Amino acid sequence: MKAVAWMKYGPPDVLELRELEKPTPKDNELLIKIFATTVTAGDCEMRSLKFPIYLSLPMRLWRGFLKSKENSILGTELAGKIEAVGKDVKQFKEGDQVFGSAGMDFGTNAEYICLPEEPGEMEGGVAIKPANMTYEEAATVPFGGRDALHFLRLGNIQRGQKILINGAGGSIGTFGVQLAKYFRAEVTAVDSTAKLDMLRTIGADHVVDYTREDFTQNGEIYDVIFDVVGTISFSRSARSIKQDGTYLLANPMGQIVRGLWTRIRSSKQVIMQTASGTIDDLIFLRKLVEEGKIKTVIDRSYPLEQIVEAHRYVETGQKAGNLVITVAHNNA
Ligand SMILES: NC(=O)c1ccc[n+]([C@@H]2O[C@H](COP(=O)([O-])OP(=O)(O)OC[C@H]3O[C@@H](n4cnc5c(N)ncnc54)[C@H](OP(=O)(O)O)[C@@H]3O)[C@@H](O)[C@H]2O)c1
Repeated sequence: MKAVAWMKYGPPDVLELRELEKPTPKDNELLIKIFATTVTAGDCEMRSLKFPIYLSLPMRLWRGFLKSKENSILGTELAGKIEAVGKDVKQFKEGDQVFGSAGMDFGTNAEYICLPEEPGEMEGGVAIKPANMTYEEAATVPFGGRDALHFLRLGNIQRGQKILINGAGGSIGTFGVQLAKYFRAEVTAVDSTAKLDMLRTIGADHVVDYTREDFTQNGEIYDVIFDVVGTISFSRSARSIKQDGTYLLANPMGQIVRGLWTRIRSSKQVIMQTASGTIDDLIFLRKLVEEGKIKTVIDRSYPLEQIVEAHRYVETGQKAGNLVITVAHNNA
């Protein structure tokens, strides 16, 4: 099968399209024929391992010190069709159309993947695809949708509360805006100029262009600040959050020490953690998609053969919402 081999850490062109062996499902696994996958900011961070040392060191110990493990394949999200199931699989059958994630095991930038029916905590999992989405649309939901849901639930968002989402125009943020609206919050979305119209169309009540305005100076106070992109300084934004308010930090790189310090010193809750998602979350998101309550924002799509160009584009930061990779099969 065709797959994106990720053998070294570095710039986009370390990725190579290779012919690798098609996997065979174990008794508890599904063999999925992938039609769409994605490239996220997280994939680019993993590919290059551009993390602070306290994160890159454990990552290297886990994935390989100087190069990634033999036959590593990048990519976390997928949508596709089940081609075969192991003998112990109960809830899926051949031909089911599914969407989901390989989680921290990666491997979805390929024609096929085997995933367990019942995933471990960091393994992601799959569910039946939303009936009203294409494979391309469905592939974008598992990562951004589940991560946004994870953090908004931690923030205990309530009807009428004011939430500010920083970095609202990307994969997590575009789902975050729509989910916060679904939970009946008043949403302020912060991102760059080109993404503001899109953010209004997906439901943001207010938008702030961070290239022109510093939201910490405008006198607004929020119940929750969800910093998706990790660029807000705690000390500067303290005045913008209620006394008993909550900071949610999806990207705590470089902010861990300050976050812990703020957590100790102030009445504000600071929540920073790695998001994990369940199959129930996928089913919850599917229901919202099918009811028309949330949709996906797709900026561009590239064929699997142009994975290097796709990574380069994601690294520009211009991506609005999601970037899809389409997977064509010779025998399709
Ligand atoms: N905690 C976890 O478990 C977890 C899981 C997955 C991912 N993450 C991390 O979460 C981060 C966001 O992921 P994502 O996939 O949503 O990224 P993304 O799709 O790249 O979106 C990030 C958005 O932030 C905007 N942005 C950049 N600088 C900004 C600033 N100074 N102020 C406000 N907005 C700014 C970007 O737009 P412009 O470039 O146009 O400004 C972009 O729209 C990544 O770093 C990822 O590693 C954390």
